[in-house]
Amino acid sequence: MTHSTQSPTKSTETLTPADVVVRYLPDTLTPVSSATVFAPSNIALCKYWGKRDSALNLPINASLSISLGNLGTTTTLRPSETGRDSLTLNGKALSESDKFFTKVFAFIDLFRHSQPLPIAVETVNNIPTAAGLASSASGFGALTLVINEFFQLNLPSRVLSAFARMGSGSASRSLYHGFVEWHKGEQADGMDSFAEPIDSGAWSDFRVGVIEISVAEKKIQSREGMNRTVSTSWLYPRWETQAQHDFDALRNAIVARDFQRLGEVAEHNAMSMHATMISSWPPIVYWQPESVAAMQAVWALRERGIPVYFTMDAGPNVKVLFLAEHETTIVEALRTNGLAMLVVEPFAQY
Ligand code: PMV
Repeated sequence: MTHSTQSPTKSTETLTPADVVVRYLPDTLTPVSSATVFAPSNIALCKYWGKRDSALNLPINASLSISLGNLGTTTTLRPSETGRDSLTLNGKALSESDKFFTKVFAFIDLFRHSQPLPIAVETVNNIPTAAGLASSASGFGALTLVINEFFQLNLPSRVLSAFARMGSGSASRSLYHGFVEWHKGEQADGMDSFAEPIDSGAWSDFRVGVIEISVAEKKIQSREGMNRTVSTSWLYPRWETQAQHDFDALRNAIVARDFQRLGEVAEHNAMSMHATMISSWPPIVYWQPESVAAMQAVWALRERGIPVYFTMDAGPNVKVLFLAEHETTIVEALRTNGLAMLVVEPFAQY
């Protein structure tokens, strides 16, 4: 298979995902009869918040995440037998006018562009959809990987990660397990803005707890939240420098297996991101009363000397970071506060 390397014909300021993707495609796509791929969800420890290019989802800052092991999305592609595109999400057929249907096929169209190849997509999330648990990350991660297999593109991981990023920024990090860094990149076409695993080996007693506070779809999607923050928050100009500082500190903490440092920086980074949202106008507050109760429960545990920290994304759910030896104490303390926590072992599943 040959991949054309011609340079974009358009000015870089107007590059679209389609302009970028087409440079990596063969002249004719040859689909296989079926392909199925899983991609894990991921939780950012240093958050991606703010785009320097909205069309290509190019970030203002580098970010760093931990993948959630076997929690994520499994997606299957097959040639459609009815001659029309179809999509099932968690076993339920969606109509062509559904927002999610449109999003998925707009992404697939980047690859099949003018070729008439009706496709049947089946996608299954084993995490709540659109509740701040990054199902869009694992969703576009799985979709990108399965497109690569289905059309036999044989593209390198870096290219696939950059493509997944165009579906949803955080999806660039969902192609891998373990700790993952997403380079912000400098190029106008974004092909140096991809994620890759941090080569730090398995941290087998590292745990992520998910306190599910609401599975309702959030009112402000992260795209809108970021854009509003970038254009209206007086705190945001400080974010880029602070995020780079946090990114470096987290990377060092991971390599050094310094859990306390990792937890402190991750929690501070999440609170800083939420501070930029809260200082936007109109303000963006994803927290629910139960989110604040969960934070207070974590702080109370720390006052008792338990090393436990939290992070939160663009949603009300709270993710708790701790080591295996403290699991029972933390689960019990949260339960006393009426909070149920699902414990994920990021390094157990692969
Ligand atoms: O990938 P998006 O567009 O859903 O944005 C994700 C934004 C955060 O979850 C808040 C942070 C992150 O890095 O995942």
